[in-house]
Amino acid sequence: MAKTYKIAVLPGDGTGPEVAAEGIKILKAAAQKFGFKLALTDYDFGGERYKRTGETLPDNAIEELKQYDAIFLGAIGHPDIKPGILEKGILLKLRFALDQYINLRPVKLYPSVETPLRDKGPKEIDFVVVRENSEGLYAGAGGVLKRGSPDEVAVQESINTRKGVERCLRFAFEYCRKRNKAKKLTLCGKTNVLTFAFDLWERTFYEVAKEYTDIKTDYAHVDATCMWMVKNPEWFDVIVTDNMFGDIITDLGAMIQGGMGIAAGGNINPEGVSMFEPIGGSAPKYTGQNVINPLAAIMAGQMMLDTLGEERAAQAVEKAVMKVVADKLKSMSAGKMGYTTTEVGDLVGSFV
Ligand code: IPM
Ligand code: MN
Repeated sequence: MAKTYKIAVLPGDGTGPEVAAEGIKILKAAAQKFGFKLALTDYDFGGERYKRTGETLPDNAIEELKQYDAIFLGAIGHPDIKPGILEKGILLKLRFALDQYINLRPVKLYPSVETPLRDKGPKEIDFVVVRENSEGLYAGAGGVLKRGSPDEVAVQESINTRKGVERCLRFAFEYCRKRNKAKKLTLCGKTNVLTFAFDLWERTFYEVAKEYTDIKTDYAHVDATCMWMVKNPEWFDVIVTDNMFGDIITDLGAMIQGGMGIAAGGNINPEGVSMFEPIGGSAPKYTGQNVINPLAAIMAGQMMLDTLGEERAAQAVEKAVMKVVADKLKSMSAGKMGYTTTEVGDLVGSFV
């Protein structure tokens, strides 16, 4: 009997539904070719539903989503809604409630894709960021006093637990070993200023490293990491870092790998339900024009296949994407690809 994967699809806002549709198209093509089945269920969580009902995620949503093998997300973010409501109420809530404690973000430049880095190519730009995804500044700790007055006080604290830091580091060491490339893991932190949080990270890093003598360890401050990502990206194999720094450096990573049109990520709970998404956001100005680049969503689907254990299908999708970017697309940018969103999906599908 063919294996059936139960997938919850959250197309979301803006161009989310358009790119999610292409991602699904490719997942279906891969299922057909590699002999597995998909049972897809759509959920309309996002800005439009919030405007209609005032609800971000209904109470039973989390329990329901726990029943799936994986979640496939388009984009969350709506121009009419105050920043923070949908992000915190949907995206971050899912990451936290499903304990997706890893945000895995590959930074890989494919041949023929333009990078703003002069003299750097696919050989130099190929690393993976393991971002802690359940704590840090994102935990929502802190508060505000006397808001709006001249005496206002705002405190936003970074929460770092031994358990949370250690499980993230262990994932990164394991991932680095499995990737089997340079076998080098770089801790990205700020030990010279954030002397409480990154002291914990650093001590735990070198402690766990003793169990991974085959992995070389390295450390870089986050500001220097940004510098090296531009100047010598080839120095990196796997980078592990906290939630906030991971958020920031992966936008830089997306730019050097060819832009938001191609950058994908996975919110991973290695013991539970993981959620895959293009990292670029809802790009509302391009909504409904069939011009947005769906490759990031397609690559999010590719990561989903890999995580579900369909490695051969994942490899086929990556190859198909590489062929399309090398032989077909004029650019990675919305409206400049030389093809529509749906045509790009069709092209990738034809090569899977
Ligand atoms: C990302 C996004 C989110 C984050 C936002 C939308 C909450 O920027 O996935 O990188 O900060 O994690
Ligand atoms: Mn981000």
